[in-house]
Amino acid sequence: MRLFGKKKEVSLQADRPVPRHIAIVMDGNGRWATKRGLPRTAGHAAGSEVFRNIATYCRDIGVEYLTVYAFSTENWKRSEEEVSAIMGLLKKYLFEALEKMEKDRIKLEFFGDLSRLSPELQELAEKTKQISKKYEGFQANICLNYGGRDEIVRAARAFAAQCTAGAAKPEELDEEAFGKMLYSGSVPDPDLIIRPSGEQRISNFLLWQSAYAEYYFTDVLWPDYTPEELEKAISAFNQRNRRFGGV
Ligand code: IPE
Ligand code: IPE
Ligand code: MG
Repeated sequence: MRLFGKKKEVSLQADRPVPRHIAIVMDGNGRWATKRGLPRTAGHAAGSEVFRNIATYCRDIGVEYLTVYAFSTENWKRSEEEVSAIMGLLKKYLFEALEKMEKDRIKLEFFGDLSRLSPELQELAEKTKQISKKYEGFQANICLNYGGRDEIVRAARAFAAQCTAGAAKPEELDEEAFGKMLYSGSVPDPDLIIRPSGEQRISNFLLWQSAYAEYYFTDVLWPDYTPEELEKAISAFNQRNRRFGGV
């Protein structure tokens, strides 16, 4: 069997390669609900259950990092009702995650500007992050109030501030150092980025980190997403020939 990509980009589970880092745009919740004559918020509720299921599946097959897009810097444009329903679901998820932590053994991280979330949510996120720090082997990164451009601007600003303070020099900045200043600083780049729902765009997700990621699009709506669908994406990934600019 051939391992596509450099060895460090894949984990080996049983006799097949599994992407080391999978990222997912959890899209299609609203359409899923509308199709059923339900309020959009019902789609978000169904979608958050799917996240739990897919996260544990990824952990079980040997994926090391799962990054999910849960709420973008642009999603504040939605109605107050929808935004507060999403925030409520997030709260519910984090409470459950705290309860099931010992069983799930998932290290939780958050990418995004959490300062715009309610103090209660910020506290809950910090708590789950701190308590789950000890778990090794599988990390889930939840992108909240996350935007790829915002992330890059913040890192640029932070570096400029270091320069102004005399703690850094512009010529010292290189790709590796800049990458470390992003929310994802300690996480390797995603190998596979999946977007369900039929949209074939990136919507401000992991702009810097996706430089050499493989994309996989599917029409399945996120609340209908299953481990079988994920397996299809992994199989497609394993057919790709990643060249990273080489031959
Ligand atoms: C993704 O589903 C969840 C969030 C963006 C918060 P959508 O709510 O975007 O679902 P569609 O795209 O309208 O179907
Ligand atoms: C991207 O989906 C954001 C999340 C899934 C959290 P959107 O539904 O917001 O993206 P667009 O509006 O279709 O580009
Ligand atoms: Mg959408």
